[in-house]
Amino acid sequence: MCGIVGYIGREANASEILIDGLRRLEYRGYDSAGVAIFDGDVIDVRRAEGKLMNLEGEIRTAPIEGRVGIGHTRWATHGKPSERNAHPQRAGKVVIVHNGIIENYRELRAELEGVGREILSDTDTELISHCIEQSYDAGNDLLTAVREACARLTGAYALAALCEDDPSTIVAAKNGGSPMILGAGEKQAYLASDIPAILPYTRSMAFIDDGEFAVLRESGIEIVDAAGNPSPREFKTVQWDPISAEKGGYDRFMQKEIFEQPRAITDTIGTRIDEASLDIDLDGIAFDADWVRSMNRVTLVACGTASYACMVGKYMIEHLAQIPCEVDLASEFRYRKPILDDRCMVVPVSQSGETADTLAALREGKEQGARILSITNTRDSSIARESDDVLYTHAGPEIGVASTKCFTAQVVALYLFAVKLAMVKGLLDDEQKQKLLHDVISLPRIVQNTLGLDEQIEQLAHSYFKKSDFLFLGRGIMFPLALEGALKLKEISYIHAEAYAAGEMKHGPIALIDENMPVVVIANQSPLYDKLISNLEQVRARDGQVIAIATEGDGEIGDKANDVIYVPDLGEFLTSVVVSIPLQLFAYHVATRKGTDVDQPRNLAKSVTVE
Ligand code: AGP
Repeated sequence: MCGIVGYIGREANASEILIDGLRRLEYRGYDSAGVAIFDGDVIDVRRAEGKLMNLEGEIRTAPIEGRVGIGHTRWATHGKPSERNAHPQRAGKVVIVHNGIIENYRELRAELEGVGREILSDTDTELISHCIEQSYDAGNDLLTAVREACARLTGAYALAALCEDDPSTIVAAKNGGSPMILGAGEKQAYLASDIPAILPYTRSMAFIDDGEFAVLRESGIEIVDAAGNPSPREFKTVQWDPISAEKGGYDRFMQKEIFEQPRAITDTIGTRIDEASLDIDLDGIAFDADWVRSMNRVTLVACGTASYACMVGKYMIEHLAQIPCEVDLASEFRYRKPILDDRCMVVPVSQSGETADTLAALREGKEQGARILSITNTRDSSIARESDDVLYTHAGPEIGVASTKCFTAQVVALYLFAVKLAMVKGLLDDEQKQKLLHDVISLPRIVQNTLGLDEQIEQLAHSYFKKSDFLFLGRGIMFPLALEGALKLKEISYIHAEAYAAGEMKHGPIALIDENMPVVVIANQSPLYDKLISNLEQVRARDGQVIAIATEGDGEIGDKANDVIYVPDLGEFLTSVVVSIPLQLFAYHVATRKGTDVDQPRNLAKSVTVE
């Protein structure tokens, strides 16, 4: 939800490294930003409300020299966005930055004020700095003080602390869904909420686990457990290249990521398909035939766009593997006391692998004995680390807050999973296997061709961008695509957009139709095509404007819709990926025409690591 970054080393340019890192973390929140840097004698704290550029301007006016520092970009949870509530927060000699939510902050605040401490902000974070200072003032070193303070906290945190008496140390702590990554350099050490923030400086990275602490010094990084005992960690070489985490010549990250989808799909398929033997190997994940046949349910859990990928996956799993499959919003699943057992498989799907609700849903499933197979784009993320098996998408870093390439990669991963289950159950003959494998191998090329619609869709978007409401309609496997199309549009253009199963229109929503209500109808060739045509005619009969997404070669739909976008057909399952391309492009071009901040839409964050 927030982004934190830290640096200690021989270079006296901590402020440049911190600001550069925060720029790569702005997608996690941008209500305010701040840095705290040792300038030789004292810790100089600079904070500014609003985007990082405001803080950059301040530091340009009054530069800070220093070799040790921590930084923060905020998505407000406790306390409105303001300079007073910006991080770093301070108590005496102790300065901290924090990502997460402290659930017992009310009790803590009462306790601290009860012993005469003056709390200056509305944040839960400031309370942590007071807890650390209390322990430090009692004669403990910074690490012990942080450990003692964290023992008083309930909730999620990833934090970094400095103390004015000890300019050679940064102490970090992590618990709950907030990620914390460590980077090791030559006489330099780094910490960050996400890989791109420190990737230009080091590829050697490791993760702090829940309940652990890290001490960063120029000489190296030490990780200890809650009791203070050493907890050695292997630093791995991260393969991402810094350039791929940049915009690569596109205007915005979202645009780059839309056009990266052929590559993202190719990489997610990877070497998992063996066309010669007509088999799929999902990274060695064991699918015992007897167990799969005895499985009584697959439950897909996710949030937002990932949940729509799950709804597509449901069709694939039930149609291909004939296993009952339910899709649950993670925020509902975690509290509804689902009935599960060891014959169930729970599949959390999450790009970031850090979404708090999805992580909690994973833990609920695990507690009830279900097998956990997660689908995530982030290696060693919290969700990945707590799963029995992980099926990674390989979409590369997705920086735009609106998910695009990770959505289509998730659908592809779910397709491979569904086909694998069908194969294990012996439900497919060679001809069916050949078709299913050929379709997915063809997908990157078909998606590449569909991206060629960009100019036509940009023109279309420019004739609709002033509308204030949209409806999206779909049936069957395309209903989740209607939901995804509506979400893409609303989250980056701020235009109100709703999606309905097209068959629902006559049960109420049709009352909304008039000449001011554009309706996007996904009407590709399918067994439900005729029903969609009648939905489309119902809309037109009420002066609604129809934008149809149809199959190339459809000679009927042209005079039934105001505008038609023709896409190639790739069968009943993977046409869902093809259809998502015009939906993404339409949302992107409407939003850019409106001038909204496409990569960092208001009120949103890329990774929702709090409830
Ligand atoms: C998608 O465009 C949104 N940014 C949001 O719905 C996102 O998909 C959701 O928060 C889930 O994130 P995750 O995949 O990282 O768990």
